[in-house]
Formats: sequence, C-alpha cells, structure tokens
Amino acid sequence: MPDLSVAIGSLRMRTPVMLASGTVGYGAEYEGLIDFGAVGAIVLKTVTVQPREGNRPPRLCETEAGLLNAIGLENVGIERFLEEELPRASRLPAPLVASVGGGDVEEFAELARAAGEREEIAAVELNISCPNVERRRLPLWADPDRVKEVVVEARTETSKPLLVKLSPKAGDVVSVAQAAERAGADALVVGNTLPGMRIDVDARAPRLGNATGGLSGPALLPVNLALVWEVSAAVTVPVVGSGGVRTADHALEYVMAGATAVQVGTAVFSDPRAPSLIASGLARTLERDGLEDVSPYVGLARKRGGR
Ligand SMILES: Cc1cc2nc3c(=O)[nH]c(=O)nc-3n(C[C@H](O)[C@H](O)[C@H](O)COP(=O)(O)O)c2cc1C
Repeated sequence: MPDLSVAIGSLRMRTPVMLASGTVGYGAEYEGLIDFGAVGAIVLKTVTVQPREGNRPPRLCETEAGLLNAIGLENVGIERFLEEELPRASRLPAPLVASVGGGDVEEFAELARAAGEREEIAAVELNISCPNVERRRLPLWADPDRVKEVVVEARTETSKPLLVKLSPKAGDVVSVAQAAERAGADALVVGNTLPGMRIDVDARAPRLGNATGGLSGPALLPVNLALVWEVSAAVTVPVVGSGGVRTADHALEYVMAGATAVQVGTAVFSDPRAPSLIASGLARTLERDGLEDVSPYVGLARKRGGR
C-alpha cells in the first residue's frame, strides 16, 4: 500500500487531499457524507473577528464551467467559532486548519493568535482575499508589502504552520507569494476564486444578489494550475493547489506542476465522495507506477522538459 502522507511543517496529513475553506462549513455538517478518514486536513470556513451575515441571496449560481458564489464571508465570528464550532469539528478524524480573514494587519494577528493557541487547530490559513476595509491604493491580496506585514504579524502570534492563500486576482501573484514566504509563511495556497458574474436575461438582472462573485470549479483549474507552476518555481516552501480539482488526475496535474497537496472545494457539492475517490485514485496511480510515495511526482512536469 503506497504512503500518501505529506507534511507542511508540523501539519501531518495522511493524504495530499485537503478540503477547501468555505465548502464544508465548519466540518461537522458533513459528518456521514464525507469520508474524513481519507482527507489530509479540513480547512474550516473563514472566520472573522466579528460575525458576518454575508451577502443577500441568491449567493450561488451554477455556470457551464463552474460555480459562482457570493457568500460574503458569512460566519459566526471568532468567539462563537472557538466556543461552539471548534469542539464539534474536533471530533472529526482529520486535522483542522483554521482559516482566518482580517480587515487589517491587527485583526489578522489577533485571529492567528486566538485560533493558533487552540490545541484542536493544527495550522492556520490566512485568507488574504477578504473584503478590503482599509481604503488603500491596492487591495491586500495584490499588495506584496501589506501581505508581508500581515504575515510577519501573524507569524509572531503563532508557532503553528501558517498557510497563506493567495488570490489569482493579484496582478503579480509571484511577488505576493515571495513576500509571504519571506515573511515566514510555511506554505502558499494557490489559490482562491476569480471574479465573475452571470445575468438572467429574462429578469434583466444579475443572477447573484451581490451582482458579482467568485468563480470556482472546472474553469479555475487551468488558471490556478499555471499559477502553481509559476509560484512553485519562485519559492522554496510547499505550494498547495486549489481550483477545479475533481479527480485524482486533476490532483496529479497540480502536483506535477509543483504542488505538495491540493484542496478540493466545489467538487464536494456535486459528490461528497470526491475527496476519498481522489485519494484512492492517487493510491492506485502510485501502485501502477511502482512508487511508494507522492514525492517523485512533485514538479515532475518541469523536470520532464517544462520550463
Ligand atoms: C461556496 C464557496 C464558499 C467559499 N468560501 C471560502 C472561504 O470562506 N474562504 C476561503 O478562503 N475560500 C473560500 N472559497 C474558495 C474555496 O476554498 C476554493 O479555494 C475555491 O473554490 C477553488 O477551489 P474549487 O474549484 O475546488 O472549489 C469558497 C468557495 C465556494 C465555492
């Protein structure tokens, strides 16, 4: 039986298949539906300092090539998250990663400390694609200097592995990735959704209550795959691929582009078995190739003649 385990610092994962933030809520909602035993880690829904109601409905819209969402970071706020949701999630048989979203540097630091000091939390993911409350020239996700400040401050507040989730919206994702790495990130998640919208022609109105939202699913795979390719060539810390992973081969594409692990989100909505099927598919491919672990695949496409 091949060994699918991978690690990001002290975050030890039995498979490279992580669940993406926001797509399985606080985890416990999916008990009995997802085989958490096949999952490397569960990234919980992004939590903010104050509770947020999120955007007005409709918040989801299916498209031919993916899903649009405009949830607007609805969450119960850090206090209730730690008191109520975390104890429930900690019964699940997979390590928990807290995803935190701050409006400014201080909030990120506060959230990283509060989540990081809980023993149920194995790692902290900084969601830097949050709505921008600071009025600055560049939004946080596109500003390497601000990202550096956020990561430096969060780093001082927790010794748990720190993952930074980048946005494909950033003009220069590589510079943002390098700034996060220099500031002490243990891994980079590449990446979040892309902006998108659809219009209901009969209603002559946007299909989402918020008009625009984030595009995930199949359309995002080639976009974020190219970013994983670029980023993994420019940093030394592990990269986690996210965007459109539905099959073991999709996961392998990210790994061969340079990722150590992947996150699965939208695919869970159409088939909650997707994460475990991806993990078992990876095991079968390793067996077929006579490999004992996934490491020989990491960056393999580059070694095979890619730039
Ligand atoms: C309904 C929905 C809610 C999401 N909420 C969050 C969130 O709270 N925090 C976050 O970092 N990403 C969030 N995402 C982005 C996913 O974590 C993931 O990065 C993205 O959807 C791309 O992966 P996928 O194509 O496998 O879904 C959300 C995505 C969806 C579809």
